[in-house]
Amino acid sequence: MEYQNTQTTAHTNIAFIKYWGKKDAQLNLPCTDSLSLTLDGYFTTTTSKFISDNEDQIWLNGQRAPVGFFKRTQKFLDLCRQLNHCKQKIQIITTNHVPTAAGLASSASGFAALAGSLNKLFQMHLSRAQLSCLARRGSGSAARSIYGGWVWWQQGSSDQTSLAVPIDEHPQLPICLLSVVFNDQPKKISSTQGMERARTTSPFYSCWPHIVANDLSAMKKAIATADLQQIGQIAENNCLAMHALNWSARPAFSYFTDATWKLINLLQQWRQELQLVAYATVDAGPNVKIITQKNQVQQIQARVQHSFPEAQTTILYPGSGIQ
Ligand code: ADP
Ligand code: DP6
Ligand code: CO
Repeated sequence: MEYQNTQTTAHTNIAFIKYWGKKDAQLNLPCTDSLSLTLDGYFTTTTSKFISDNEDQIWLNGQRAPVGFFKRTQKFLDLCRQLNHCKQKIQIITTNHVPTAAGLASSASGFAALAGSLNKLFQMHLSRAQLSCLARRGSGSAARSIYGGWVWWQQGSSDQTSLAVPIDEHPQLPICLLSVVFNDQPKKISSTQGMERARTTSPFYSCWPHIVANDLSAMKKAIATADLQQIGQIAENNCLAMHALNWSARPAFSYFTDATWKLINLLQQWRQELQLVAYATVDAGPNVKIITQKNQVQQIQARVQHSFPEAQTTILYPGSGIQ
């Protein structure tokens, strides 16, 4: 077999308008559109090769992958084998430069990098639009990590029409995020499980598509006019509405901890009393991403470290699409 370089890097993205619920769990078709910013500091690098073993071999961060991780990756390998009429076993070596399954979107960078690497291994020659569809089959949010900067995932109605499109791959506005990690351990309820419980049991779920439609159109205007405060406020509102679906699910659940709430309240205080631009967005985990601007992020980081000496903080800037 001729040597092929399958190494692919993809960055995580953080949703400013959240994806939370599937209308088709098999194809990963979402109930709504969503919108994200790809980030430079958190990423995954993956390589793949065909092996003559009887089993697939999957390595995560230098160790054999845990069973749940193995099975989910293998399901994606099966899909690619099926698409390419191939039966050969595969070795995957992947490194997450982001905590895995902790609510910092490792599934987005992970499956975007995996789709990109397998595109090279199988010589599929997929366009970025087709790659977005393929990555989506691994994890919905991965559809967006194909592109850099601001990315809009259009829900679509079929495998071929549910894909992300770039809005602005190189944002000029001075946005940046401060990631505040209180706990980098895997969550107890995966995103897949959490959104399905919210969709099927929250009495508020029927409101969610309307909330997203309104927030999305306001967010696009705020991005077009480079209005950072509006961007932050809409993102925070949308995030809290998403989590309210979980608090109202049956049985109810929450990804927030006391620290999550304490920081959200502090940000509100800093906005009012110090006129800082600082808004929270939280995915399926306890950790907070603070939306802010470049010339305030150091001050905010110092304040966060003062209030939470144990927290790990990282400054993140807009990042690029897959390489
Ligand atoms: P997160 O908040 O990190 O996205 P999820 O619950 O959405 O958490 O997804 C975590 C799962 O994503 C992992 O258990 C694993 O199955 C998958 N995943 C994470 N990183 C990778 C990777 N590098 N390659 C393949 N799959 C990955
Ligand atoms: C809260 O894309 O991780 O981060 O499609 O089941 O893999 P699956 O879920 P995933 O869900 C992400 C949920 C979120 C919001 C978002 O990224 O839009
Ligand atoms: Co995820």
